[in-house]
Amino acid sequence: MDTQNQCDIIPMPRIGDKAPEFKASTTQGEIIFPGQFSGSWVILFSHPADFTPVCTSEFITFASLQDQFAKANCKLVGLSVDGLYSHIAWLRTIQEKIEYRGMKNVEVKFPLIDDVTMEVAKKYGMIQPGESSTKAVRAVFFIDPKGIIRAIIYYPLSLGRNFDELYRVVIALQTADAFSCATPADWRPGDDVIVPAPGTCDAAKERMQGKPDMTCYDWFFSTRKIDKEKVLDAILKK
Ligand code: BEZ
Repeated sequence: MDTQNQCDIIPMPRIGDKAPEFKASTTQGEIIFPGQFSGSWVILFSHPADFTPVCTSEFITFASLQDQFAKANCKLVGLSVDGLYSHIAWLRTIQEKIEYRGMKNVEVKFPLIDDVTMEVAKKYGMIQPGESSTKAVRAVFFIDPKGIIRAIIYYPLSLGRNFDELYRVVIALQTADAFSCATPADWRPGDDVIVPAPGTCDAAKERMQGKPDMTCYDWFFSTRKIDKEKVLDAILKK
């Protein structure tokens, strides 16, 4: 069976699905996914290949943010279809030889999965033959503490990810859960969040009365303030 057909018969995981299970060898030993990560948020992400420039810039950046993600109860797990020895040699090169944008001596402490068989990459729809049938695209799966996929972002091989955005997604998802709200365009902690719609303009006006922390833009669009400190207190580990 060619790669195109193999990818066609495995349904791609979607938002709201349970994260597909697998066992894998990694640079930090064997992992059982997602069971071993129960109780934490996890970002499972793929990169096309070790020893390539965009991926190297991404790994240095992500690894320098690993403590920031850990404070948000979010673990990182990387994957490419390279083998363990390649992963180990590449991560050692990153730590010992590469200085990029002031980041140097960066140790990647999170597991990097050996997926030479492409078994995991195919399970997660990371092999997208229109882009490459031999390399994973830059996929990012945000998985919650119950093992449910909450957001997915895909990037092509040529485009390095924005790690501020990945962090923003983790914080926004946790805020939505903690405060039963949604988050508007470009939301960051401290910005107003979206609350259930008032339903009518009269209800919107009524809702506003005596509640300076609320804004009703129309019957379908209402927000309220939540202080940045309150958001961060609810989310970040002390
Ligand atoms: C890179 O990371 O630079 C890269 C990897 C695969 C294809 C193209 C670019």
